[in-house]
Amino acid sequence: MRAIMLREPGEPGNLEWTEAADPTAGPGEVVVDVAASAVNRADLLQRQGHYPPPKGASEILGLECSGTIAELGPDVTGWQVGDQVCALLSGGGYAQKVAVPAGQLLPVPPETDLVAAAALPEVACTVWSNVVSHAGLAEGEVLLVHGGAGGVGTHAIQVGKALGATVAVTVGSDQRADRCRQLGADLAINYRERDFVEVLRAETGGADVVLDNMGAKYLAANVDALRTGGRLVVIGMQGGTKAELNLGKLLVKRASIAGTTLRGRPPEEKARIVADVREHLWPMLELGTVRPVIDQVVPMPDAAEAHRALEAGGVFGKVLLTVR
Ligand SMILES: NC(=O)c1ccc[n+]([C@@H]2O[C@H](COP(=O)([O-])OP(=O)(O)OC[C@H]3O[C@@H](n4cnc5c(N)ncnc54)[C@H](OP(=O)(O)O)[C@@H]3O)[C@@H](O)[C@H]2O)c1
Repeated sequence: MRAIMLREPGEPGNLEWTEAADPTAGPGEVVVDVAASAVNRADLLQRQGHYPPPKGASEILGLECSGTIAELGPDVTGWQVGDQVCALLSGGGYAQKVAVPAGQLLPVPPETDLVAAAALPEVACTVWSNVVSHAGLAEGEVLLVHGGAGGVGTHAIQVGKALGATVAVTVGSDQRADRCRQLGADLAINYRERDFVEVLRAETGGADVVLDNMGAKYLAANVDALRTGGRLVVIGMQGGTKAELNLGKLLVKRASIAGTTLRGRPPEEKARIVADVREHLWPMLELGTVRPVIDQVVPMPDAAEAHRALEAGGVFGKVLLTVR
């Protein structure tokens, strides 16, 4: 098969479309003929040499894909060769074929194009496991999503609204604020011009749940943004890893803070998250209340171009890589 291989950690230009060994389906796994993968921020870090794949995972980049099942390994039930699927991966998506545990497969939702389905697994599993399973967002609550215009953010807006929450987002421009409102956000705050804590408190009284991509830079402000009983979930460290925390504020608010990653979880946990997503979130996709948000589709051999686009900023939703 052909795959994007990394000549050495560094610039996007080090990504090369070249020959690679075909994957095989081990027990409980299937091999998928990849139609499309998607670029995640973690891929940029892995390309730079800052985010090595977990033990046992493919060295090839790519945390999600869509495609057609080409081969079943031993002990796989419930799936057939020829099924159209999308999948949460620990790596290996930037390739013509990938092996994946069957527990990490999802059917392509009706009405969703096979290529577009590659935009779903990572954001769906991230948003559902953090905002719903962990933080327990309930109808009528306020959800604050940082980076509302990003891949995770555009999905979180739709899921928050589908669950009956009030959704606030932070974004880097007024134009991105408008697009987030069109997607359903009740409040979109341009973080370059306004203090998000002030605006959020004035407009909603504060957040019950915060989904945070910034880490250290926003820690103090996020705690200030929480209401009594609020839950802050940190999923990204775009603003650094170390910050001071005023525990007094946390105690008074009876608030909690969690940090999570999806990629490092064992396959059983990933399978549980994928099963939750299939049961609760897939019906929203079937109804059309949640849909993939795709900024651009790039041929996989041009993955370097797709990495440059995500690094440059301004992407709204996901960047997909298609296999021809
Ligand atoms: N822990 C996990 O399991 C997990 C899983 C998936 C993703 N993540 C992380 O979640 C984050 C979002 O992922 P993604 O795929 O949505 O990435 P993405 O599409 O690249 O979006 C990142 C967003 O960050 C926003 N941003 C930059 N500076 C900001 C600031 N000062 N305040 C608020 N937002 C700011 C950008 O918005 P503007 O352009 O509008 O400024 C951009 O839309 C990333 O950090 C990623 O690594 C974690």
